Amino acid sequence: MRYGHFDTDRDEYVIDRPDVPVSWTNYLGTKDFCTVLSHNGGGYSYYKSSQYGRISRFRPNGVPLDRPGHYVYLRDDADGDFWSVSWQPVGKPLKADGHEDGAEYTTRHGLGYSTFEAKYKGIEAEQTIVIPLDDDVELWDVKVTNTSDEVRTLTVGSYVEFSFHTITIDNQNLQMSLYASGSSYEDGIIEYDFYYEPWTHHYFASSETPSSYDSLRDNFIGSYRSESNPIAIERGEGSNKSGTTQNHCGSLQHKITLQPGETKRVVYLLGYGSRDEAGRAMQAKYADLATVDAERARLRKHWTDKQDKLRIRTPHEGMNTMINTWTLLQAETCVVWSRFASFVEVGGRAGLGYRDTAQDVMSVIHSNPTKTHQRIVELLRAQTEAGYGLHLFDPKAFDPDAPKLPDVPSPTIVPTPSTADLIHGLEDTCSDDHLWLVPSVVEYVKETGRLDFLDEEIPFAEGTPATVYEHLKRALDFSTEQVGENGVALGLRADWNDCLNLGGGQTALVTFLHAWAIRAFLEIARPLGRTEDVEKYEAELARITAVADRELWDGKWWVRGYTRDGVKVGSNENKQGKIFLEHQAWPVIAGITSQERGEQSMDSVRELLGSEYGNHLAWPAFTEIDDTVGFLTRVYPGIKENASIFSHPNAWPIIAEAMLGRGDEAVAFYDSILPYNQNDNIEVRGAEPYAYVQFLYGRDHEDFGKAQNPWLTGTAGWMYTAATKYILGIRLALDGLIVDPAIPKDWDGFEVRREWRGAVYEIEVKNPDHVSKGVASVTIDGVDHPADLPIPAQPEGAEVKVVVTLG
Ligand code: GLC
Repeated sequence: MRYGHFDTDRDEYVIDRPDVPVSWTNYLGTKDFCTVLSHNGGGYSYYKSSQYGRISRFRPNGVPLDRPGHYVYLRDDADGDFWSVSWQPVGKPLKADGHEDGAEYTTRHGLGYSTFEAKYKGIEAEQTIVIPLDDDVELWDVKVTNTSDEVRTLTVGSYVEFSFHTITIDNQNLQMSLYASGSSYEDGIIEYDFYYEPWTHHYFASSETPSSYDSLRDNFIGSYRSESNPIAIERGEGSNKSGTTQNHCGSLQHKITLQPGETKRVVYLLGYGSRDEAGRAMQAKYADLATVDAERARLRKHWTDKQDKLRIRTPHEGMNTMINTWTLLQAETCVVWSRFASFVEVGGRAGLGYRDTAQDVMSVIHSNPTKTHQRIVELLRAQTEAGYGLHLFDPKAFDPDAPKLPDVPSPTIVPTPSTADLIHGLEDTCSDDHLWLVPSVVEYVKETGRLDFLDEEIPFAEGTPATVYEHLKRALDFSTEQVGENGVALGLRADWNDCLNLGGGQTALVTFLHAWAIRAFLEIARPLGRTEDVEKYEAELARITAVADRELWDGKWWVRGYTRDGVKVGSNENKQGKIFLEHQAWPVIAGITSQERGEQSMDSVRELLGSEYGNHLAWPAFTEIDDTVGFLTRVYPGIKENASIFSHPNAWPIIAEAMLGRGDEAVAFYDSILPYNQNDNIEVRGAEPYAYVQFLYGRDHEDFGKAQNPWLTGTAGWMYTAATKYILGIRLALDGLIVDPAIPKDWDGFEVRREWRGAVYEIEVKNPDHVSKGVASVTIDGVDHPADLPIPAQPEGAEVKVVVTLG
């Protein structure tokens, strides 16, 4: 069953039926103002931080599921009938359900905007919600057209519920939130204020003078009503009252008269800042509708520019659509907005997860070098002198330039932690966090050519300065120190698998990741001529290779590790959890195993973990609690870390298969979990088919295939990397572009446009012999180039045509 389709020409996903079983969301905002928005207009906004900067309210896990939202209502003043431009909150009967006079609704989620469209009773309405590039404001661009042949008089009403800025107070301490906030109305602008924190305000305004307003929520909604039937909309008039204390909202109503065929447009503004400092200027700016159009066009160009950095055209429509648009947007969303703002993560946690951020940044350096750089610096500042990363940290705490808020005496006493209190010890350290950072920094240097970045001094969390290069060495050395007697890495608190704690035992995954990180480091240490380091880390790489070979091969796949008591986990000897997914690909990726073992381990993954929805994280699921293995044994079978189809590590076997030269297998893995392929299977999937989710229920659960926790997952970045750098094989060396695809044999070829350091590479890959891998010849602008050498970096402004023939 399907609810919508991909509109690739407009880079939109179009929801044709609004009664989707769960909320299908989009993320708006590129800088400081973010909105998480459902296909029915539900959702919330925040400024910079989803924990401290809430602007509009969301009732998490609510019934109905996505209230409140950023809503526009229409009321026919002839008969009082009213509806909303998004299907909810009014929820008119649908024509699609056989109601002859019912309403028709469409939602278009696009790059940085969403558009709601309604057709009802001879009125066509459209509401586009968009956040301009440089202003801390959300615009609701509303157009109403009279398609009937009578003159129509309508009221256009808007509504947003304000939130106290700190989410925990908004949810838990009403004693404070209800009595410390107020609202006022002046010159068409509603301002929401926090009385004792006079630096924080929100405002709501519009491009036209309103006929009435509400800024007290309960006046707008009315008793024993909801957003579905607010009294102020039913009446066609707001109560024109504001005041101090209680719950506040922004609602402005406009009366319009439309001749047959006539369209009127009104723009609403939800903004961060005070009326005087921001609201008036923004109101004046966006009252000019040409400016609204121009800002929408700028935003479109902003995304086109990002997409142009790497555009693919392959015979695989799903890959093209996802890589060029949706996976790029999702990967960027994780980097820009981090992982704690969705309809599932509702803002109770904040800051940056070390491991997640260090991975996420790797895939969007080409499309967002500025944010990537910021995140890398934040990660380096949160690395300890010992080399490990602070597992979850607030970057502000380690940023010497973080703006300080005025020191207002507060009745609530919250002790201020010192920086030293924020640095956890080994007992809270994960064994993998710091390792992800090394290849990310190397990728950053390769993308930007900024070798000088390695010499920049950035302090460790303790405050001691060190060069970036030194930071990387400390990361590698920490893992060298943290090994057991057999040379396998110590598991510490956990590794990538948060719930496989092994009681502090040993982990194969980190052993392999360590080798991968060293290999990445050598890519820069060698050309920099750091001979001593090269020798040292080559020796360490050789040690790990021997350890893996000796200790970690189980016969047909790799053992996952050992518990503190030395019991194997993820071995054929085990009764439950015989095989795990997340580490199988890494010996191949790190280049520390043979082709034969690589292929054998991937075959085991396919055979024992594979399914039509992707690879399971483990098999068989744990049904008996075993705390020496970890928390995952306390999770229902088929869910999360206990043998669900956990999306993120599904990317790694794709990379391994590509590196093994098995393009058909790589794409089969890619396809099995590709959301695009589930577009017509929503009765099973549930979640949006344009975003990866954290996990899908595994075969041990009756809801097998159901997708949970959309958007905020490292899957997006890794799938982007797997498809572009390994299936299509467009990777970077320090001074050249590598084209080394591993594609299905039946592909005739593909094309990629890559912008790199200011030059454009139009790459055409031909596959006349229908092979998966192997470059037979290369030409650059028609001139032969050795097939085994990277395409040399071209001067800025150059545009070259590269033809690669496989065979
Ligand atoms: C969640 C965490 C991530 C972890 C994964 C597996 O996605 O954000 O850090 O690696 O679960 O446990």
